[in-house]
Amino acid sequence: MSAHDLDIPRLRAEAAAILRENDLGAGYTIPTKGLYPFQWNWDSCLVALGLAVVDEDRAFREIETLVAHQWDDGMIPHIVFHADAQSYFPGPDVWGTGRATPTSGITQPPVLAWCLRRLYEGAADRAAAGARVKALLPKVAAWHRWFREARDPDGTGLVAILHPWESGRDNAIDWDAALDRVPTEGVGDYVRRDTAHVDAAQRPTKAEYDRYLWLLKRFRALGWDNAALHAASPFKVVDPGFNAILIRSAEDLAALADALDEPAIAAEADAQAQRGRAALAGLWREDLEQYAPFDRTTGASVASASLGGLLPLFALAPGDPKASALVRRLDDLADRTAYPVPSHDPADPRFDRLRYWRGPIWLVTNRMIVDGLARHGEAKRATALARACLGLVARSGFGEYFDPLDGRALGGGRFSWTAAMVLDLSR
Ligand code: GLC
Repeated sequence: MSAHDLDIPRLRAEAAAILRENDLGAGYTIPTKGLYPFQWNWDSCLVALGLAVVDEDRAFREIETLVAHQWDDGMIPHIVFHADAQSYFPGPDVWGTGRATPTSGITQPPVLAWCLRRLYEGAADRAAAGARVKALLPKVAAWHRWFREARDPDGTGLVAILHPWESGRDNAIDWDAALDRVPTEGVGDYVRRDTAHVDAAQRPTKAEYDRYLWLLKRFRALGWDNAALHAASPFKVVDPGFNAILIRSAEDLAALADALDEPAIAAEADAQAQRGRAALAGLWREDLEQYAPFDRTTGASVASASLGGLLPLFALAPGDPKASALVRRLDDLADRTAYPVPSHDPADPRFDRLRYWRGPIWLVTNRMIVDGLARHGEAKRATALARACLGLVARSGFGEYFDPLDGRALGGGRFSWTAAMVLDLSR
C-alpha cells in the first residue's frame, strides 16, 4: 500500500480500542493478553504516550501506578504483578522479591523521564500536568541516582545491565558471548509459557532461558540486595542503547525540573546527562560505524551491529558528528530491508528475521529513532520513518514486532505499545 492510502482515522480508532481492551481497570495496561498479563515498566511509559492522545489523566495514571511500586533503594522494577495470572513464567513465586504487591527484582530501560516530558509539553491542561509531574520528579531522580550507585559503582559515567531482560531487547545478539559464560547448573525443570502463545521460532531459545533463570536465582539468593548484585553477577554489559535512554531521560528530567522550579534535581540530572554523554563516546566502533556494547566482565568491546548501537542518535548533542554517521548507517540499513529499522544488521550471519530482538522491527525503538532524526535536523527522514511505521501496521496489524524483509506481524497480537506508537506517531 502506498502511504497515500493510509486510513489514519481508522488506524487510530483501532489503536485506541486495543489500549482500552488491555486496560485492566486498575490504572495499568498489560502489553497483550495471555503472553504478558502484568504491568511492564517501559511498556507502560510508552503506552502513556498513546494514552495521552485519548485521555491525558489516564496517561498520567499509567505512570503513577508504575512508580507507586518503586523500591526503597530507588529502583523501579521491570514487572509489577498486580494480580494473579497463570499464563506467564517466571511469575512472582520464582522472583521471590518479598514485596507486598509482588514485583520482579530487575529494572528496564528508563524511558520514563523522556515520556514524562512529552506528556507535560503536549498537555492541554499544563497546570494539572505540571502538578502531577512535579510530584513524580523526586522519584524519577531517585531512580536515576540508583543507576549511578548500583550500576556504575566505579563512576565510569555508564551503567551496566545485569540481566538481558533489563535491556528490553531480551535475546539480542549483543548478549550472546556474555550469556554463554553464565552457568546453568541447578536451574532445574520448568515449563515455559511464552511458547504456548507464540511460535517458538519467534522467541528466545531454551539455552537462553536456562541462563535467564540462573541469573534470576543467583540474584534471589543474594536477597535482591542491589548493593551486592553488580559485583556478584557474571553478566555485566554496558549497552549503548540503554545508556542512551538514560542520558536522554536525564536531559529531559533536568528540563522538567527546571520548568517546575526544582533546581537541585535539575542540576543533578544535568550533571548525569553530561557525564554519560562524554563516556558514551568510548563505545563507538570505527569498524562497525556505530556504537557497540562493552562487556564489563572481560573488559572488551562486543562486535555486534545491533539497534542498541543506533539508539544514541536520540541522546547525542545536536551537531555531534557521530549523529551524521548514524544517519548514514540508518540509510544503509533501509537500503537492505523492505521495512526499517531491523533490530540487527541483516549482513551479520547471526541475523534472524523472525526471532524477537535478533532481526525483527519494533515500533517503540523506531519511535526513538524518529525522535533522534528530528533532533538532528533530519525532519524528512523522521517523517518518512513515522509514515513507514504507520503503513506497516495498516498492512500487517498491531503485532508485537515485524519481519523486516516482508513486513509480516510476529509475536503477540493486539499489542499495546504498537497501538500507542500508532497514536503517538500520527499526532
Ligand atoms: C519482552 C520484550 C520487552 C517488553 C516485554 C513486554 O520481554 O523484550 O522489551 O518489555 O516483552 O512487552
